[in-house]
Amino acid sequence: MIRVEFITAQGERVSTQAEVNSSLLETGQACGMPLEGTCEGQMACSTCHVIIAEEWFAKLRPASDEEEDMLDLAAGVVRYSRLSCQIVLTPDLDGLIAHIPPESRDMQLL
Ligand code: FES
Repeated sequence: MIRVEFITAQGERVSTQAEVNSSLLETGQACGMPLEGTCEGQMACSTCHVIIAEEWFAKLRPASDEEEDMLDLAAGVVRYSRLSCQIVLTPDLDGLIAHIPPESRDMQLL
């Protein structure tokens, strides 16, 4: 297991444990983050958009062209934006910090 920390749009810190090789999307959903992940990792929705903490961004595998294209369509994209479904939690990402974008809305929680 590795440790992952989410920071909600309201600034609340939520620490959780994640299985190695699980996705950041699954991990966020498991601890109640409002990440819809409508397309379940098929890079067709961008509802899994997160903003990676600057100090962790360079440690991730670079985004594919498909991911970049999909991010272009996401609301509130910034320099450190990624699709959480594309981030595989490898042991070197122990301690990863990801922000939930303010635009994120999970319809199921409204
Ligand atoms: Fe749809 Fe990530 S879950 S792009």
